[in-house]
Amino acid sequence: MVALTGAGISVESGIPDFRSEDGLWSRYEPMEYGHIRSFRANPRKVWKMLREMDALLGAAMPNPAHLALARLEERSLLKAVITQNVDSLHQKAGSRRVIEFHGHGRTLRCDECGGRVRRDGLILGEDPPRCACGSAMRPDFVFFGEEIPREAHGEAVEMARSCDVMLVVGTSAAVAPASHLPHLARKSGAAIIVIDPRSIELPSADIDLHIAKPAGKTLPALVEALDQLETE
Ligand code: APR
Repeated sequence: MVALTGAGISVESGIPDFRSEDGLWSRYEPMEYGHIRSFRANPRKVWKMLREMDALLGAAMPNPAHLALARLEERSLLKAVITQNVDSLHQKAGSRRVIEFHGHGRTLRCDECGGRVRRDGLILGEDPPRCACGSAMRPDFVFFGEEIPREAHGEAVEMARSCDVMLVVGTSAAVAPASHLPHLARKSGAAIIVIDPRSIELPSADIDLHIAKPAGKTLPALVEALDQLETE
């Protein structure tokens, strides 16, 4: 199995997702705050949202859904997690093979000189964090309008092509190219299982089973059922 996760898997860790009623994009217009052009034009304004995200990410702990995926990997039932999230909660839960499709927030980088610093240890003030060269630094995650990290993209496509089952957990599948991965997996013969209380933007022809329940309940139940099978 391979898991494709989105912001919904971290909602039970206290991090709002993007497109639900009280999601981040209900407070910040995505193209105004989440696009690389907006960052370049007004880094101070975009850092207002980034500081809010950063505060949420810093305080969050893995929830039973993240822990269940780590357990499935431990049991060699899950080969990798492909995540759109930048919160590092899969790694904190113990997952080892995590493909960060949209990068991560553990380091900041300078697009002028390529300088990088670790996020933790930095005190974020009103101004954007500045590089030694004077330019505003940005988190090491992907803004709208930017390429997916090449290595992550290649690995994710390889995983989608070779899995037997793809668990699609906590993503609206609203954003390409991540949203193409389930279709790619299904075309290669995989079964697609969606875990999301709401319907998502995948064509129903691409979904074999939709468990409309929170991931924090569903994934631990899946682990328990597989443990049961094992003992039998
Ligand atoms: N368990 C499972 N799913 C949940 C839960 C939960 N407890 N809570 C919410 N969800 C679902 C929502 O119903 C929704 O379908 O998670 C999904 C979250 O969708 P989005 O908010 O669109 O987040 P995501 O799919 O990760 O967004 C993709 O868009 O804004 C960009 O780069 C950003 O990586 C992000 C990408």
